[in-house]
Amino acid sequence: FTVDMDANAADKGAYPFYMLKEIDEQPAVMRRLVSEYLDADGQPMVEEQMLADIADADHIYIIGAGTSYHAGLVGARMFEKFAKTPTTVHVSSEFAYEQPLLSAKPFFIFLSQSGETADSREVLVNVNKNHWPSLTITNVDKSTLSREATYTMLLFAGPEIAVASTKAYTAQIAVEAVLAKALGEYLKSEDAKDFDLKHELATVANGMQAITDSKDKLEEIVSHYLSKPRNAFYIGRGVDWAVSLEAALKLKEISYVQAEGFASGELKHGTIALIEKGTPVIGIITQDRTAGLTRSNLEETQARGASILTIVSRHLAKEDDTVILPDVNPYLTPLLSVVPAQLLAYYTSLGKGLDVDKPRNLAKSVTVQ
Ligand code: AGP
Repeated sequence: FTVDMDANAADKGAYPFYMLKEIDEQPAVMRRLVSEYLDADGQPMVEEQMLADIADADHIYIIGAGTSYHAGLVGARMFEKFAKTPTTVHVSSEFAYEQPLLSAKPFFIFLSQSGETADSREVLVNVNKNHWPSLTITNVDKSTLSREATYTMLLFAGPEIAVASTKAYTAQIAVEAVLAKALGEYLKSEDAKDFDLKHELATVANGMQAITDSKDKLEEIVSHYLSKPRNAFYIGRGVDWAVSLEAALKLKEISYVQAEGFASGELKHGTIALIEKGTPVIGIITQDRTAGLTRSNLEETQARGASILTIVSRHLAKEDDTVILPDVNPYLTPLLSVVPAQLLAYYTSLGKGLDVDKPRNLAKSVTVQ
């Protein structure tokens, strides 16, 4: 099916909640992004002047809130790997009032599904005052952040209605990948040339489909491990840590389980004291260099009574792993590892009889600071 930005696309159809529909739309969004941003040879189709402006900068500052901030954590790694450009990621509400010492030639990337987040806009107003160039990556054409930034790249994800962001997160990461490849090619980086994004995103789309097709299994896992506990941990290293933060946010905001995303190695520096019999600890393991370390950290929690679950890339998988993901480029594993986490949050909320799409105390778009 196609994902359109018209009113019909926001119809729930046979789905009980928008969130589940939006999770299921992710493979189609990935395919749409391939057709919008990559030509027949897999070359990025991105505004040349924007690439020139970013290439002229000495540092990329990514600004976002909540899930968009988490997508930035993944993107920063790609800008450094494929475009060799130092990149840091900042929570907009902090950056607005505690601006770090900036480099001589900054370029700003704003990530915002809605394009209306007040905290992010506060930063953009100051960026414009200083005449620094900027790009907004957003799902909403002509939104405030889009209109006020120098450049815009759209997410083409279709309307996202559920308060918990799902398809916008994966679309943000895919668009960041397009930009990292485009900028890297512009700067003649070998890593960017070798990054076959068209093939990778096709693999991602199929992988997402396989995960959403086996959602029954995730519903069953929830009934065994997540329906009762009051708290839970996601742990990982590097990009898996970035996904752990997003996975924990999903669980918190719609199921009210107190969940934390942790750098696996940090757990033993204090937080492991919270582990009790039955505390769910979910390890995300997709990176060769750190897989063994995260497994040891999981075992440390298991020895203290934790119930261990794992989300693991196929080539690193062992017999007892819970969810096994298809293999993709190591910089793109978040596009797959987040999907089971979205579904775990969804089924936990559903099982508790909560309003999945409209969790308490939250608005879809946060337009106050
Ligand atoms: C995500 O599930 C949240 N509802 C929230 O963190 C959201 O991502 C944040 O408010 C930022 O919104 P934006 O992307 O529209 O700027």
